[in-house]
Amino acid sequence: MRLDRYLSESGLFTRREAVKAIRGGLVTVDGEAVRDPSLKIDENAAAVEAAGRRIGYTRFRWIMLYKPADTVSTTDGDPRSVLNLLPAEYRSVGLFPCGRLDADTTGLLILTSDGATAHNLLSPRRHCEKVYRFSCLPITEEQRVKLEAGVDLSDFTSKPCRVTMADPEHGTIAVTEGKYHQIKRMFLAVGSEILSLERISFGGIPLDPSLARGEWRLLTEEEIGILETNGGQDAQP
Ligand code: URA
Repeated sequence: MRLDRYLSESGLFTRREAVKAIRGGLVTVDGEAVRDPSLKIDENAAAVEAAGRRIGYTRFRWIMLYKPADTVSTTDGDPRSVLNLLPAEYRSVGLFPCGRLDADTTGLLILTSDGATAHNLLSPRRHCEKVYRFSCLPITEEQRVKLEAGVDLSDFTSKPCRVTMADPEHGTIAVTEGKYHQIKRMFLAVGSEILSLERISFGGIPLDPSLARGEWRLLTEEEIGILETNGGQDAQP
C-alpha cells in the first residue's frame, strides 16, 4: 500500500495532509525518514511514525455522528444522506450506518466499513441496546407500564423495554430491537405520540456530549472494542 494512503486511512490525516507530512520529512518507516508519498509499504508489518508518533493501520473505519434532523441514514446517493456531513475521503470507504434513524430523529449514528461486526450488532439475536430521549403527548403510569411490557403492533409485538419518565411528557426508552418507526408506533399504540426523538446511546456507546448536531469524530479503539464485544451481549431490559 502507498504510504500516503496508509496515513490517510489511519483517519488522522487527510490524503493532502499525509502527502505534506511525508514531503516535509515528518514521517519515518521502520526508523528511516522517507519523503516519497508513493513509497509502497507492507501495511501489516511496517512501523510508521509521524512526528514521532506511531501510526497504526486500521482496516475499518468507525465513525460517531451526531445526526441532525432533515438528514437520512441511507447511503444510496440521496442528497440528504448523512454521508454528506463527512469529509470527501470518508465517502468512498464503504461506510454504512449501524441501524437507521428516521429523517426527523436526531442523535447517535454509528457508521462503519466493518460489515461483519455491523451485521452482528444489528442482528435481533444480539439484543444490542439503543437508548432514546423523547418528548411525547403526556402519558400516564399505566401507559408507561404498557410500553415496558411490550405492545402489539399488528405485524409484531415489541419486546419488553425500559421506559423512564422525567415528567409525563419527557423520558428515555431503552430498546433492544430496531424495527421501522418502532418507537413512534409503540407510543401511538398506547394512545400517545412521539413529538421528538433523539438516540443517546448505541450498544453501550453514549453520544459524545462534546459533539454538536452535524459533527462527527472517529470512534476510539476502546469504543470499537466495546462494539465488537458488548454488541453481542444480552442487554438487561
Ligand atoms: N424508532 C423510531 O420510531 N424512529 C427512529 O428513528 C428510531 C426508532
